[in-house]
Amino acid sequence: MLRLARRSATVISSYAGEGSLAVDPFQNVDAAGEEFITAFADSMDERQSDPKMESIVATYLSKLKFPKGGVTVEVGAGAGAVTRRIAAKAEPERVMAFEPSSGFVRVARDRARQHPNITFEVADGTALPLDDKSVCNLVLHTVLTHVTDPALLLQEARRVLKSDGYLVVCDADFSKASLSGGANDPLDACARAFVNEFVTNPHLVAKLRSLIIEADFEVTDFDVQSRTIADNDQMLPWVEETAKRMLERGDIGQELFSGLVSEYKRRAASGILFGYQVFATAIARPR
Ligand SMILES: C[S@@+](CC[C@H](N)C(=O)[O-])C[C@H]1O[C@@H](n2cnc3c(N)ncnc32)[C@H](O)[C@@H]1O
Repeated sequence: MLRLARRSATVISSYAGEGSLAVDPFQNVDAAGEEFITAFADSMDERQSDPKMESIVATYLSKLKFPKGGVTVEVGAGAGAVTRRIAAKAEPERVMAFEPSSGFVRVARDRARQHPNITFEVADGTALPLDDKSVCNLVLHTVLTHVTDPALLLQEARRVLKSDGYLVVCDADFSKASLSGGANDPLDACARAFVNEFVTNPHLVAKLRSLIIEADFEVTDFDVQSRTIADNDQMLPWVEETAKRMLERGDIGQELFSGLVSEYKRRAASGILFGYQVFATAIARPR
């Protein structure tokens, strides 16, 4: 059994290695298809409802100002999991959410019907349909790790923010994420394969402070929080989506696919899973 686990970890690790030609599907969500859109819209809603994530978002929102008539913008809003929290805090002031995927925008509009102060539009974070210095707050929540050139999005944020505005960048330090319950754990090999396949820039957080400063901001707050996942499905896509792709490519067979998914579920059902994630939040003001 131990030998089988080690062999599985080796197969998956080699798949997760530097040589992989995987392209992060979050770079073009519409091309990834409807199944991906539904799975990740639900997964991001579930992630955001975790008390730790609620606390991270509530903490950064408590440091912003929402003046009368002011506009708050979220860039790369996905299906709106964070946008709805921003809107509840900003109410009655306006929140404009921009997202390049028309599929996510469709789901986001549907899920945000109770928030009349939100609008969702299809737009890329490098070319926002906004005037210079027109925005009070701009939030980038788990977006910069999925773009090839984060500096371009930060430059655009700098252009649209008022001189007394606030920039928030909250992102995962994917270089530290793990599902490891021990050495050579096949679930952890899946987690590393997920980062390799679904994240463009896993080390973004290490460079975040200097990237923000280079975009002509002053960083006023930089906080790092970790979260653990012991008994729920919040990291199941890390195993299921990765193993599904390996299965489709013929890298593994149905038995190993089913075994990996069942192993995740077995540990979660017994409360012995050890999912580990780190999130950094930077707050910055234009210089
Ligand atoms: C992991 S999702 C996060 C979604 C949302 N912020 C949340 O936390 O629920 C990453 C998002 O970044 C978006 N994205 C990717 N490239 C982008 C770009 N160039 N400009 C704006 N958003 C982008 C993706 O379409 C996707 O919705």
